[in-house]
Amino acid sequence: MKNKIEVLQDKIIKAHAGGGPVRIESQHKKGKLTARERIHFLLDENSFEEIGMLVTHRSTDFGMEREKYSGDGVVTGYGTINGRLVYVFSQDFTVFGGSLSETHAEKICKIMEMAMKNGAPLIGLNDSGGARIQEGVVSLGGYADIFYRNVQASGVIPQLSAIMGPCAGGAVYSPAITDFILMVEHTSYMFVTGPNVVKTVTHEEVSSEELGGAATHATKSGVTHFACSNELDAINHVKQLLSYMPQNCEEMPSLLPYTPADENRSTLNTLMPENANQPYDVRSVITEVTDSESFLEVHKDYAENIVVGFARLGGRSIGIVANQPAYLAGVLDNHASVKAARFVRFCDCFNIPLLVFEDVPGFLPGTDQEWNGIITNGAKLLYAFSEATVPRITVIIRKAYGGAYDVMNSKHIGADLNYAWPTAEIAVMGAKGAAEIIFKKEITSAEHPEEKWLEKEKLYSDIFANPYRAAERGFVDEVIEPAQTRTKLIKAFKMLENKVVNNPRKKHGNIPL
Ligand code: HXC
Repeated sequence: MKNKIEVLQDKIIKAHAGGGPVRIESQHKKGKLTARERIHFLLDENSFEEIGMLVTHRSTDFGMEREKYSGDGVVTGYGTINGRLVYVFSQDFTVFGGSLSETHAEKICKIMEMAMKNGAPLIGLNDSGGARIQEGVVSLGGYADIFYRNVQASGVIPQLSAIMGPCAGGAVYSPAITDFILMVEHTSYMFVTGPNVVKTVTHEEVSSEELGGAATHATKSGVTHFACSNELDAINHVKQLLSYMPQNCEEMPSLLPYTPADENRSTLNTLMPENANQPYDVRSVITEVTDSESFLEVHKDYAENIVVGFARLGGRSIGIVANQPAYLAGVLDNHASVKAARFVRFCDCFNIPLLVFEDVPGFLPGTDQEWNGIITNGAKLLYAFSEATVPRITVIIRKAYGGAYDVMNSKHIGADLNYAWPTAEIAVMGAKGAAEIIFKKEITSAEHPEEKWLEKEKLYSDIFANPYRAAERGFVDEVIEPAQTRTKLIKAFKMLENKVVNNPRKKHGNIPL
């Protein structure tokens, strides 16, 4: 028995050594942690249970039968984060560059299936040179097996992808299907084809960082939701993100203890600028209304004209969507619409109530927007809100103009409650433009057209630049003093916590993609 245990211990030690000390040192020199170190920092102490430690590849081409490492380039298993069960795979770059072999893929698939069956989140720590080149098509098949399971798991369990190193070729599509991507600045990158192929095909000269680094994907493409300053920052973001989510689509997010106190927020009464065209940062509204330091912004540097993120309100996890007047006056454009739509759908998948702060002058006009599909993209947001069955509340804090009024979680598309601040303006368009159209003849034939225009602008503004027409119709449920917003919302979300809505039976809807 003693000898047998020694054999086992020897195997475990070898598996823990990954690709060996030289490669581990090279990993550290790049400012990267090893696969096991990442798991150590991610999970609760001593909670990790490894599955498949002794798996090796089956490849025999190119002398591969002589080069085998236990685990085959990926550490898989389960553990807890703040006491909650999660499943993890962590690719080991020190073993064949973390490349994906047939068995490496099988290990990941096994964990994914367990996560789905047992209803717990899946976290992927990606650091891989892509398909194991020595294995050819079986490696490609392995990727497809993972993609397929990512899709099956979508909307069933939360799936998070942290990109800790290279992620190239078709390998990018597994993270892309998952709910959130986190990248590490300067040490991770994602692209379908790398700089060399780009140069050959398009003659563009571009570095890996510029083509697919964290900054690029956080600002230009929106592929990553978070650009983290280092690996520990990324790991901490994973933990924080998870704290707002339930384990699976059948459960509710955790409710933190909350003791009602004086919830009046008088600063909100003076927050809005005097001039309705003056910008302000909507994040100051969000942080004032939600629980202290609970706001986690998602996609912070992408499509900044809309702000999305998680927060807590009276201990309750909520998803926030807010127009941002400090950027492009808060208009809805292609990128903002898609960004918000995807966030709304995530929250709806996982029973996270939605809160909208609305201050939107409308959709952005222009050829760039039209030619890039603002019709289809705006429809995505309209569709996402309309199909969402979670509790949904909107606070119209200033402008709610045109189609954007309908789209931004209006009562007409299923919101449960709409509040408005006295500063709200709800109309087809701004008073200046409206006056120019409906009083065109009067203005052009007037002795002093500019004065006439101003007079008519004021007339339109007096009628519509307020929340009361909408309140008379019941499109706004209540006009509230801004200072009361937090109290009202805490009560309202509590009132809505057992909401049940059943959309018509269907195979699945056909969101305009
Ligand atoms: C097998 C690989 C490998 C791979 C790296 N290695 N990528 N082994 N298959 N795909 C091995 C190297 O041989 C090396 O082994 C070790 O990993 C570290 O690689 P280095 O090149 O020394 O590291 P570095 O300089 O940091 O460069 C990392 C890299 C580079 C940028 C990832 O290795 C690279 O370009 N690899 C190939 C990337 C690629 O083209 N993959 C296929 C993508 S297409 P030793 O023994 O020296 O330590 C794809 C299709 C998926 O993935 C399709 C899904 C639909």
